[in-house]
Amino acid sequence: MPNSRRLPAERFVWDGVVRLFHWSTAGLVAIAFVIDNRAVHEAAGLTVLPIVALRILWGFAGPVHARFSDFVKPPGAVIAYLRAMAAGRPPRHLGHNPAGGAMVLALLALLLLTAGTGWASETDPGFGVQWLSDLHALLANLLLLAVGVHVVGVLLSSWLHRENLVGSMISGRKRAGRDGAEPQHEHGAAAVARLDPG
Ligand code: HEM
Ligand code: HEM
Repeated sequence: MPNSRRLPAERFVWDGVVRLFHWSTAGLVAIAFVIDNRAVHEAAGLTVLPIVALRILWGFAGPVHARFSDFVKPPGAVIAYLRAMAAGRPPRHLGHNPAGGAMVLALLALLLLTAGTGWASETDPGFGVQWLSDLHALLANLLLLAVGVHVVGVLLSSWLHRENLVGSMISGRKRAGRDGAEPQHEHGAAAVARLDPG
């Protein structure tokens, strides 16, 4: 007899657009940093722009966990989450946690600004303008720093919740929160929107 109270062990969280966006952006940024060839650098960097634009649109039109409304929280909620994390007891979230959500915004902005200044430094008015090249280099380094913090956050969160978040960004699936740590995230979009404490 089927047990209607039984929750599935896994939930599908990251759709194909989010996953493709993530790993192609990470790959392109790595190429822009590592490959010492101007044409390759510019091609990789420029490709980042439409991909990030698509992700931003997806943040309004995509499935629930891809939406900004699901993971962009007020600063107070981000700080409260970071405090809980420092105490070793952050609540588990099926989508991005509040600190992760803030980091997503920072990463998207830095990706746009870095690629944008790189592009601008190659246009007619921007070519040879030193401050533009300097700004491009500064933004690229800030992006690298943010990615470092991002990866540390992902690994820390994976460890604290005993789960493989990197694997989830590959498969799209995450363990359903059956331990009661986040029941509000287990009943679909409406419940998430209504009950999510941030
Ligand atoms: C240049 C490098 C990278 C950039 C720009 C980047 C950017 C991002 C962005 C924007 C998101 C949000 C995804 C979305 O909602 O669309 C994200 C999520 C994520 N990234 Fe990265 N990332 C980078 C490298 C990495 C690496 C190397 C790893 C693996 C260690 C990683 C693991 C993850 C994971 C697991 C998530 C989901 C976090 C969660 O569960 O809330 N990222 N990343
Ligand atoms: C997210 C994408 C990008 C990243 C991470 C990135 C990163 C970097 C980094 C780390 C440097 C070296 C800065 C230094 O000299 O210390 C650089 C230089 C440069 N980038 Fe990018 N870049 C990106 C996109 C672009 C784009 C789209 C273009 C042009 C279409 C571009 C054009 C250049 C040029 C021309 C330089 C040499 C500047 C100079 O030495 O005067 N970049 N970039």
